[in-house]
Amino acid sequence: MAKIKIRKAVFPAAGLGTRFLPATKAIPKEMLPVVDKPIIQYGVEEAIAAGCDQIIIVTGRGKTVIEDHFDISVELEKQLESRGKTDLLSMARHISNLGRVAYIRQKEAMGLGHAVLMARDLVGDEPFAVVLPDDVIDAKTPCLKQMIGVFNDVQSSILATQVVEGPAISSYGVIDGKPCAKNPRVLEVKHLVEKPKQADAPSKNAIIGRYILTPRIFEFLEKTPLGAGGELQLTDAIRSLLKHEKVYGYKFEGKRYDAGDKLGFLKATVEFALKRDDLGEEFRSWLQGLPALKR
Ligand code: UTP
Repeated sequence: MAKIKIRKAVFPAAGLGTRFLPATKAIPKEMLPVVDKPIIQYGVEEAIAAGCDQIIIVTGRGKTVIEDHFDISVELEKQLESRGKTDLLSMARHISNLGRVAYIRQKEAMGLGHAVLMARDLVGDEPFAVVLPDDVIDAKTPCLKQMIGVFNDVQSSILATQVVEGPAISSYGVIDGKPCAKNPRVLEVKHLVEKPKQADAPSKNAIIGRYILTPRIFEFLEKTPLGAGGELQLTDAIRSLLKHEKVYGYKFEGKRYDAGDKLGFLKATVEFALKRDDLGEEFRSWLQGLPALKR
């Protein structure tokens, strides 16, 4: 059987970002910069590095700056060119050349599942990736690329997971599964629960913001009733999909930051800045000298 290629990556970016108020009152959370790059750009670069060439961003009201960001900025480019700022010019051009980007609106923030459903016509009848832009992942091999490697083997839906200790598990979808003999990072999912109490969590394997889904998910998203908080939950539809198709969990290699959360965002900012050639050294010595750290 010919292997199917994952060409399309869907970025749900229509949420209200309430955990990051007041910054997100007028600025999309997806445009908050970790160091100097909007968090959604990390995800788009990851998808391109994984071989996806079609980026589908689900936006909503107040999110048009995301479209401007991935578009050509004629004035900026002209000015950088005339001033001979070639590095900045190529940086600006790199952003507008990042694959083909299509946009679709989610008129009301009715949940992640609903946002993914909005992309149905643009995705069509092929397996696709979903990238939650607020999950910024630092990995030697891009997380989505690792997952596509697994997909090439199993040709089924895959959910990226990480081990979450303690009560924090109740903020996630949690999978219960059987490790595959061939690759212990891959679990065949048997059961999936959304935001369980710590005592009821079937494992510590929490679903994070990277998915590869078969197109059949749309059939179940259409049928899934609104769940917790009046939102259409993606995990509810995946649970229905699981009754008809195999679904796998994948413990990705790398470190994930929840940049949609203030503490996660701060951690990402500090760690990414420390790794930068142009900033890292000076930033490290400044941090080390902070009196507040000596208390
Ligand atoms: P989150 O739950 O992290 O985003 O959803 P949120 O709802 O914007 O944030 P909080 O919890 O209020 O702070 C993960 C991703 O799914 C998108 C968000 O934009 C985010 O990138 N999303 C969420 C949608 O596109 N539509 C929705 O209805 C909900």
